[in-house]
Amino acid sequence: MLNNLRVVLGVSGGIAAYKACALTSKLVQQGADVKVIMTESAQKFVSPITFQAISRNPVYIDTFDEKDASKIAHIDLADWADLFVIAPATANIIGKIANGIADDMLSTTLLATEADVYIAPAMNVHMYAHPAVKKNMKTLERWGYRFIEPGEGYLACGYVGKGRLEEPETIVNVIIKNQREQSILEGKEILITAGPTQEKVDPVRFFTNHSSGKMGFALAEEAAKMGASVTLIAGPVSLETPANVNRIDVKTAEEMYQHTLSYFEKSDIVIKAAAVADYRPKVTYDDKMKKKDGDLTIELERTKDILKELGQKKTKQFLVGFAAETNDPLVFGEEKLKSKHLNAIVINNIKSPGAGFQSDTNEVIYMHQSGDKVAFDLASKKEIAKQILVQINKDIKVD
Ligand code: PMT
Repeated sequence: MLNNLRVVLGVSGGIAAYKACALTSKLVQQGADVKVIMTESAQKFVSPITFQAISRNPVYIDTFDEKDASKIAHIDLADWADLFVIAPATANIIGKIANGIADDMLSTTLLATEADVYIAPAMNVHMYAHPAVKKNMKTLERWGYRFIEPGEGYLACGYVGKGRLEEPETIVNVIIKNQREQSILEGKEILITAGPTQEKVDPVRFFTNHSSGKMGFALAEEAAKMGASVTLIAGPVSLETPANVNRIDVKTAEEMYQHTLSYFEKSDIVIKAAAVADYRPKVTYDDKMKKKDGDLTIELERTKDILKELGQKKTKQFLVGFAAETNDPLVFGEEKLKSKHLNAIVINNIKSPGAGFQSDTNEVIYMHQSGDKVAFDLASKKEIAKQILVQINKDIKVD
């Protein structure tokens, strides 16, 4: 499955370094050409000769061990790699990469590589939960590094919890799956909307909703990783722009409508994860409304239904809507799919725990215009985003 894939495996200094031997073996068995870099601490757990024997390649341990005068070893290795895996990744190496520190063979090579990097952390449960580690992981995730989360169980330090290096077989399976999915969207223009809209009443007040933008941003991030050229039209959210994504910030439904329309024609796939206001105040005020005795009635008017209009205009575009429902999700979702002339709809029951607004997770049913449904169980919004994009890609081929 990984035939001729050039993999650099970085082994840092944790007890789980012994598992990296099995990982090397499994990668080699899958056809990968593996070159191992070990940190000084890693060598306290396993000898380089073990990795040399399993990988049938020299093991790199010293930045200054320049065997070939015509090359600079760490740059040469960084350029050689199709893929970089760090397993086990200690808190130290994660911290170094996140802060641009390059002081040994592994960290200098990592900084110099343009290959995709997978990081499989392994450490004590409290270290893994430390805000510094979390912050560094978040930074790296934003930069496009992929994490293979540690498993839970008995840790070498005696604790039971999260921090165990994921099993070598699972790491290899993740890599194989991602290799397959990688670049499936190459050459595709994808337009994604995310977040809420804000509909002004006066300079102080507005109508909005609970959307955080997480679902739409996860889609944008994953689509870019799959090789698509991504434009993300975002309502007011406090999220960082994913790597390689063209982001356009908007506030109102009308602004979202204008920008969405201007990118629509050249798009191959359009995914509308935004929670657009259906109504806005009919009259807005430039000065703050003064409170008065008694009740206040604010008259609302309909905004444009962007998705419905796109459904009428679409030519080549594969158009995907989202439906946020609280009751009879399938019935209302299907109704939106049909009435808005969509190719597919992603239905989330926002009453279901861990699904819908704000959470880092979601649970959805993807419904194709043919009526075929696929349920994606509760998982991180990134994982759900990946599954949605893979499904869209399958459907595009069939439609
Ligand atoms: O942002 P998060 O906190 O991560 O939450 C994610 C989410 C719950 C917002 C997301 O998963 C989701 O369900 N988005 C759609 C929310 C929504 O507005 O659903 P709806 O059923 O009201 O609208 C149906 C579809 O029509 C949506 O694709 C919406 O973008 C579109 N629409 C709605 C109104 C309007 N005026 N124009 C539109 O294009």
